[in-house]
Amino acid sequence: HEEFTKVKNIATIELGRYEIETWYFSPFPPEYNDCLKLYFCEFCLNFMKRKEQLQRHMKKCDLKHPPGDEIYRSGTLSMFEIDGKKNKVYGQNLCYLAKLFLDHKTLYYDVDLFLFYVLCECDDRGCHMVGYFSKEKHSEESYNLACILTLPPYQRKGYGKFLIAFSYELSKKEGKVGTPERPLSDLGLLSYRGYWTRVLLDILKRHKGNISIKVSNFLRDQDNFLSAHLLMPSSTYLNCVEKDMAVTVHFADQKWPHPVGSMCQLMELSDMTAIKAEDILTTLQSLELIQYRKGQHVICADPKVLDRHLKAAGRGGLEVDVSKLIWTPYK
Ligand code: COA
Ligand code: NA
Repeated sequence: HEEFTKVKNIATIELGRYEIETWYFSPFPPEYNDCLKLYFCEFCLNFMKRKEQLQRHMKKCDLKHPPGDEIYRSGTLSMFEIDGKKNKVYGQNLCYLAKLFLDHKTLYYDVDLFLFYVLCECDDRGCHMVGYFSKEKHSEESYNLACILTLPPYQRKGYGKFLIAFSYELSKKEGKVGTPERPLSDLGLLSYRGYWTRVLLDILKRHKGNISIKVSNFLRDQDNFLSAHLLMPSSTYLNCVEKDMAVTVHFADQKWPHPVGSMCQLMELSDMTAIKAEDILTTLQSLELIQYRKGQHVICADPKVLDRHLKAAGRGGLEVDVSKLIWTPYK
């Protein structure tokens, strides 16, 4: 049994008006093994070995946008939802394409189980894909995103943040919390950390009073994991879990520590943002905002410190305008 060595096969692709250098191996069917370059139809994502084939294809391909439903339109930006079961070939083509830029990700070619959210910049020639994310139709682990990609010519322009924000808007509409599938790439983690930081600290900054992270269920399941990440003694958790309150936010204009018993639960960060409690905690922990004082975990939300972190996290230029999202959850 010979080991399949995963050397990068396709070096460049042509997609719309871009020629793009690839990053990683992608398991195209064997008949493409001898190609260094592939030509993609930017609309149906069929790929070909020769430029002339693509030119012939473009004359007869009648798609001017991804298949599926347009669920969001704001200015020149549109988002399409593609059901992998209804558009199997498109879903597979998208996976082949995406894998060229994804390293350790196991791609599921059983596209039936996934929805694909393809973001496009539209003009009079059609809707040009800038990136996408995939999402399991039913996730046991509350994943709200499986793979995310911004095509290289469009990277560092805020589209990744837009895609992440969009995935959480879908979760909010579902009334669920979500988290991206692991492992995340370095760039993926950077983008998520930035998103989580901005969203959470924006809320902490605006909010006057106490706030809780809804953690009680999570702590029961994942006590060990959390202990490792937050470096807190697990006996303390159990203590907190019993009182149904693990982390309370302390604001600089209030006296602390608050006795847990007197906490009023004004808001729950996880419910407001659809960000999973685990991600909230690790984000706040990485910013060193969680402290253990006098038997309690408190978040010291000094406005100056928050401002400093917010500045470091950068601003996202492309906002998701929720009023432009017309969508009902998959059933
Ligand atoms: N170097 C340093 N920081 C980077 C970066 C880079 N090359 N790319 C993204 N970031 C960080 C920055 O903090 C950036 O914010 P800033 O531009 O305000 O500083 C933030 O991530 C997000 O930038 P944004 O422009 O919204 O992201 P993007 O459109 O470039 O997309 C990814 C981000 C992760 C989707 C994109 O890099 C990508 O597709 N990578 C390949 C596939 C991948 O790794 N996906 C994740 C797998 S889990
Ligand atoms: Na991912």
